[in-house]
Amino acid sequence: MTAKAAAVRFEDAAVRLGGRTIWSDVSLTVAKGEFVAVLGPNGAGKSTLIKAVLGLLPLAAGSVSVLGRPAGQASGAIGYLPQRRNFDAGTRIRGLDIVHLGLDGARWGVPIPGLPSRARETERVREVIELVGAAGYAEEPIGQLSGGEQQRLLIAQALVRRPQLLLLDEPLDSLDLPNQAAVAALVRRICRQEQVAVMLVAHDINPILGYLDRVVYLAGGKAVEGRPEEVISSGTLSRLYGAPIEVLRASDGRLVVVGQPEAPFVHGDRHAHG
Ligand SMILES: Nc1ncnc2c1ncn2[C@@H]1O[C@H](COP(=O)(O)OP(=O)(O)O)[C@@H](O)[C@H]1O
Ligand SMILES: [Mg+2]
Repeated sequence: MTAKAAAVRFEDAAVRLGGRTIWSDVSLTVAKGEFVAVLGPNGAGKSTLIKAVLGLLPLAAGSVSVLGRPAGQASGAIGYLPQRRNFDAGTRIRGLDIVHLGLDGARWGVPIPGLPSRARETERVREVIELVGAAGYAEEPIGQLSGGEQQRLLIAQALVRRPQLLLLDEPLDSLDLPNQAAVAALVRRICRQEQVAVMLVAHDINPILGYLDRVVYLAGGKAVEGRPEEVISSGTLSRLYGAPIEVLRASDGRLVVVGQPEAPFVHGDRHAHG
């Protein structure tokens, strides 16, 4: 693959935080228009990887290029949904305005009537709200909406500027399993329809397995990437964790990882009551 075709490319990269190496020797490529999940146990450095793509953290070694430029120089072309953004029930701002905020935070709440650009903005806001299927509730105060509805509106916010790269840090975290699958299907559709590359940090691969192109798995300070069935395999995960890991496929197709207590999606019921 040429460098030009890559949305994100890490080469022999390492990050140190607070004097500790979080991960090193990370080499991976996310192609344009590709849907990639970033997996790994808590504390493995998934959010750190996303922040390195954003250019918010310096690398201790190696390089990262984003949309053909050094990280940090492509922020206008990146949509970012940070980890854990929930609105409490009292939040009165409408979903529609949350999405509009993605266009230009500084101008929000100060509409300039009559400008053609304003009309185009309103049109784009309407368009992304349609795209994520939120038209039915975009006028409601966001604090009154369900977790899944809030996530759809936040994804719309991240999309409103037509990014070429979408970074979603655990957008499925507070959702029940059917909603996780629904949002994954939505992200897949956006990925294809808008030709945007997506890096989605997730805890459980199972609800999203059928929608992914590739997987990046972080553990033990290293990363592997590949097709889901290559990465989520006994051999690959055992090498990565440096301990025997068994990956089983349940009769319903779900992957179950056995032998590593801190591995994600060992406990299939983590979201069952979310
Ligand atoms: N600013 C920081 N200074 C020192 N350590 C940090 C900092 N931010 C994160 N860490 C540590 O880096 C590790 C990876 O964090 P993070 O990327 O948030 O993990 P994940 O998203 O995979 O759960 C964790 O052990 C965390 O405590
Ligand atoms: Mg994180």
